[in-house]
Amino acid sequence: MCATCHTLFTPYLDNQGQIAGEFPEQTPYLEWKSSIYPALNTQCQDCHMPMITDSVDIASIAQSHQVYRTPFWKHAFVGGNVYMLNMLKDNIQTLGLTASSENFDSTIARAKENLTEKEFDLFITSAYENDSLNVFVKIENKTGHKIPSGIPFRRMWVHLKVTDRNRNVIFESGDWDEQGEIIDLDAEFEPH
Ligand code: HEC
Ligand code: HEC
Repeated sequence: MCATCHTLFTPYLDNQGQIAGEFPEQTPYLEWKSSIYPALNTQCQDCHMPMITDSVDIASIAQSHQVYRTPFWKHAFVGGNVYMLNMLKDNIQTLGLTASSENFDSTIARAKENLTEKEFDLFITSAYENDSLNVFVKIENKTGHKIPSGIPFRRMWVHLKVTDRNRNVIFESGDWDEQGEIIDLDAEFEPH
């Protein structure tokens, strides 16, 4: 059901304005299908639709035919796009939106929770060897697809900073400038 909309191949144009091919714009379903989750019977809905056990009237029509169901999976689809939610929240009037700023606040909080607690686990250990510091970084994906997934302009990289005991930075990799560009980008190791 989710795949019908969330599988999207978009044509792109060359300099002459001719269609030159297609690129995979959104493929969370194909990623999920290739993952361990179908075998575990973990569906998109299990992660993306919060379950409540209240008795919920599932139809707003036909008063005499009220159907109460429990459990109920809320239709609140939150990903990781905090940036867009903030833009919408700051322009409610101009865009004529029907959601209130409180609605946006709760959705922003859930998106942040996705990005900080539900997206991945990070394991870092370090060890000295002669005069070198070796840092081992392990990232465990906790989503049901790739990270990042969904809209293709999202990017993920490791920002590593080593400080001495006075908090002076003695090594840094992955910092970014005012334009949002990664400083000393190494295309070989940090491809988009
Ligand atoms: C009829 C088309 C359609 C279907 C079916 C659909 N989606 Fe979506 N979905 C969208 C569109 C369009 C957006 C982006 C617009 C928005 O966020 O309001 C979106 C947004 C989302 C987001 C939020 C992305 C973000 O950036 O925060 C998630 C998560 C999501 N969908 C998951 C699902 C899941 C899981 C299912 C299946 C149960 C599903 N969608 C079914 C069209 C669809
Ligand atoms: C095991 C839990 C899990 C499953 C299963 C899962 N997702 Fe997600 N998904 C997440 C989490 C957590 C995020 C937010 C982290 C992120 O976007 O990087 C996310 C993010 C997304 C986004 C938003 C990306 C964006 O641009 O903000 C979309 C769209 C999405 N999922 C769709 C799906 C679809 C469709 C399926 C099923 C084919 C699915 N997810 C299955 C956990 C899951």
